Amino acid sequence: MKKQEADERIKKLRHEIDHHRYLYHVLDEPEISDAALDSLKKELQDLEDEFPELQTPDSPTQRVGGQPLPEFEQVSHTTRMLSLQDVFDIDDLKQWEKRNQKIIPGSYEYFVELKIDGVAISLMYEDGRLQSAATRGDGLVGENVTHNIRTIEAIPLFLRKHSSGRVEIRGEIYILKADFKRLNTQRAKEDLPLFANPRNIAAGSIRQLDPAMAAKRPLRFFAWEITEGVPIKSRQEEYALLRELGFAVPPNARLCKSLIEVKEYIDAEEKKRLKQPFQVDGLVLKINDLSITTRLGVVGKAPRGSIAYKFAAEEATTVVEEIVVQVGRTGALTPVAHLRPVQVAGTTVSRATLHNIDEVQRKDVRVGDTVIIHKAGDIIPEVVQSLPALRPAGSKPFRMPKRCPVCNSPVAHEEGGVVIRCTNSQCFSQQRERILHAVGRVGFDIEGLGEKIVEQMLQEGLIEEVPDLWELTEGDLQQLEGFAEKSANNLVTEIHSRTQISLGRFLVALGIPHVGVVTAQDLARTFSTLDRLVSVTPEDFERVEGVGAKVATAMYQYLHSKEMQHLLKRYEQVKVRIVPEKKNGPLSGKTFVFTGSLGEMTRDEAKQLVIRAGGRVASTVGQQVDYVVVGEDAGSKGKKAQELKLHILSPEEFRKLIA
Ligand code: IVH
Repeated sequence: MKKQEADERIKKLRHEIDHHRYLYHVLDEPEISDAALDSLKKELQDLEDEFPELQTPDSPTQRVGGQPLPEFEQVSHTTRMLSLQDVFDIDDLKQWEKRNQKIIPGSYEYFVELKIDGVAISLMYEDGRLQSAATRGDGLVGENVTHNIRTIEAIPLFLRKHSSGRVEIRGEIYILKADFKRLNTQRAKEDLPLFANPRNIAAGSIRQLDPAMAAKRPLRFFAWEITEGVPIKSRQEEYALLRELGFAVPPNARLCKSLIEVKEYIDAEEKKRLKQPFQVDGLVLKINDLSITTRLGVVGKAPRGSIAYKFAAEEATTVVEEIVVQVGRTGALTPVAHLRPVQVAGTTVSRATLHNIDEVQRKDVRVGDTVIIHKAGDIIPEVVQSLPALRPAGSKPFRMPKRCPVCNSPVAHEEGGVVIRCTNSQCFSQQRERILHAVGRVGFDIEGLGEKIVEQMLQEGLIEEVPDLWELTEGDLQQLEGFAEKSANNLVTEIHSRTQISLGRFLVALGIPHVGVVTAQDLARTFSTLDRLVSVTPEDFERVEGVGAKVATAMYQYLHSKEMQHLLKRYEQVKVRIVPEKKNGPLSGKTFVFTGSLGEMTRDEAKQLVIRAGGRVASTVGQQVDYVVVGEDAGSKGKKAQELKLHILSPEEFRKLIA
């Protein structure tokens, strides 16, 4: 980036960051997540690092905390309330260690604690009694919130081990995720505005002017520091002492002998993170020996002896470089944002679907926009919103093309829907996507037929539709780029090992609109053979659980279309046999429900595994269900399964069971 461009971007970023900081710290009404704000700050920091001459003392990279509210009495902190430097990977930790070892040589042990996403508070005890409590404020001056803090049961009003003089304890006020949900449900019923996140409730509650209001909020507290008044030698000792004094401490802290051990701990905790009952946004590493920490001192706003390792954020900001319109197997046109690559939840994201034109218009996403990307675990990345304040001048709203971007045929709006479709069923993109869908893991499950190969086969005129695959010869494949005799032979063998397919999988492979894995299985189990399926009425379809009028009509129309008659004839010619759904198997008689993300496996793949083992998959939780597989970010189904006391499996347990 050129300096002038950087200068403009820096100014815009500072303005935007300041706006969100004000919403977050002063009004407690954030509009974007902490992670998205961090991401903007990181872009600013990177630009300032690249162009140090553009850094100014009033840049948001140069300050701590928020403004005290005028309603509260102000309190000067005896010791400045510092913050921590954030790092995002193990290399940053290694560099941090090296920098410190340059100042004080030797090997360090680290005391590592969960980093609780709450609100920092300072508690002052005099002769063992709680005297006052203050927020961080700007680090030097905070707000006196003693009246509210006294309502929090987790905070002792007197220390269990009596100590004379002043003792200052610092820690984090937070609320449980479950309490957050409960409070929001309650507020929704009362038509009150919802809280953005648990941290937000904690912050809002301790700044209530009326302590009765604060008392109603289920606030909790973890102590993380004895700032003054008790001599201690190490963080480990401090942690133990805090408990003896009567404080809860972040659970499961660990003393690590080296960064190698720290890394193991990080990996283990990062996996458990979403299962914690409270929000954890990373780990805090503290050099265990306090004499080293004291000697290392402070740099800027943070002590050198401690650092925050932030877990891969689930949100980040980046720039939309292009909006490309893709054509799917049913001809639906999908706008996809091509992004400047950005790390989200541990992977690099460079594309995100914008779903349809309504969605693009509602979010007003344009080329050149800075957008917030959300991705939780292995859930598909999504554009949450665009930040219009960072929009380049002269940008125009996005419009869908009037013709198919692939085959140039006219497009048509689906009646009553938001979908726009390419009207040419022979469109290259539609053909490719239909084939990829049919041979995928939930259909014929043919290995080795990726996007590139299918595209080449279509371009070379070797295939037009799925049944053509069974007529391919080794010689045909050897013409294709990257194919040798052996690989050609392997693929032909693989294709011919898939001449028999269960009726359910066949229905999925056909790609009938609205017919997914579960519906296909229910239809296959009810009607057993394709002949029966073709001979029944839409009303018969509707008798199957979970099949409504829409699916029934779609099924009926599809099964009686010319296209279907033709395809069936072709499958017959190439000797693909459709066999009834397996009813017996190790899981026969067992019903599964899947909820949340399952890690390496997609949910559809998991469903097919159950069906293949003779089990059944349902879409709703009820007494008839035997197992509920609850992955990450599971919603109400997971909760209902608990209430009904059903057998709950983690994705790992499911994998073991299936294996
Ligand atoms: S030690 C100089 N330990 O995270 C501050 N902080 O981003 C020393 N936090 O300001 C902090 N959990 O408000 C420490 N186990 C923990 C923590 C923790 C959450 C907060 C704290 C701190 C902020 C830094």
